[in-house]
Amino acid sequence: MDWGMKNRISKIIRPETGRAVMLAVDHGYFLGPTRDLEVLRKTISPLISYADSLMLTRGALRSSVDSQTTTPIVLRVSGGSSVIGESLANEGLITSMEDAIRLNAVAVAISIFVGTQYEKQNLLNMAELVNQGERVGVPVLAVTAVGKELGKRDQRFLSLSCRIAAELGARIVKTYYCDGFEKVASTCPVPCVIAGGPKLETELDAFEMTFNAIKKGAVGVDMGRNIWQNPKPVAMIKAIRAIVHENMKPQEALKLYESEKNLKKSAAKKK
Ligand code: 5RP
Repeated sequence: MDWGMKNRISKIIRPETGRAVMLAVDHGYFLGPTRDLEVLRKTISPLISYADSLMLTRGALRSSVDSQTTTPIVLRVSGGSSVIGESLANEGLITSMEDAIRLNAVAVAISIFVGTQYEKQNLLNMAELVNQGERVGVPVLAVTAVGKELGKRDQRFLSLSCRIAAELGARIVKTYYCDGFEKVASTCPVPCVIAGGPKLETELDAFEMTFNAIKKGAVGVDMGRNIWQNPKPVAMIKAIRAIVHENMKPQEALKLYESEKNLKKSAAKKK
């Protein structure tokens, strides 16, 4: 692997721990102004310094993130469909590699909807993106998307999707946590991160999912809603960081979350 590719990957997967906390705020590209992501800058600003990298579209980046940021950028470059359209899977490439480099992205991200009528189109788009990325040293992160069919998040489907993504050249794969996740991770020859999915009922649920994913072979998270839809998103991302980078147990992470939450409250009271 060439120096540039290695260097970019090291901005996502921290060499100190071999783990990654990616903050995903790319949802608007198909969902519009989804809850708690209505005003991008307001959601991103308090969280960006706690993320190892930030995943978003070029429009969100240019409009809502300061160019002085030191947080590496993973650019979502697939899209073209919406939640109210015919199919979420009907995606194409929406950003050129040239623009990704202009924006100083450390990786480009593309969804693949395996098993849909658009599978071939998605996979060929991904392969072409890999060709472009390898030429200039930009890693491709493949997202094993399920669209509206959340029930598809089972081990057999995710193992299949992750393996195909890696075989086609993705340097990192983003998938979902599931029962039997160790099989998903162990049969994927490149590092896997998990998405959080829709907001879980409790903080502990999100901490347990993160902890178990790491234990079973994920290198980290690329998490969105379970962080920024939480009433205390900063406390949430700090606790997730502690699990990912310090192997903190879920109950300990909950204590950390509670203390961070209350810390803010008492600081505010003092003012
Ligand atoms: C959408 C995405 C999102 O970035 C991904 O789902 C992560 O966010 P969340 O934790 O909210 O699921 O790739 O296709």
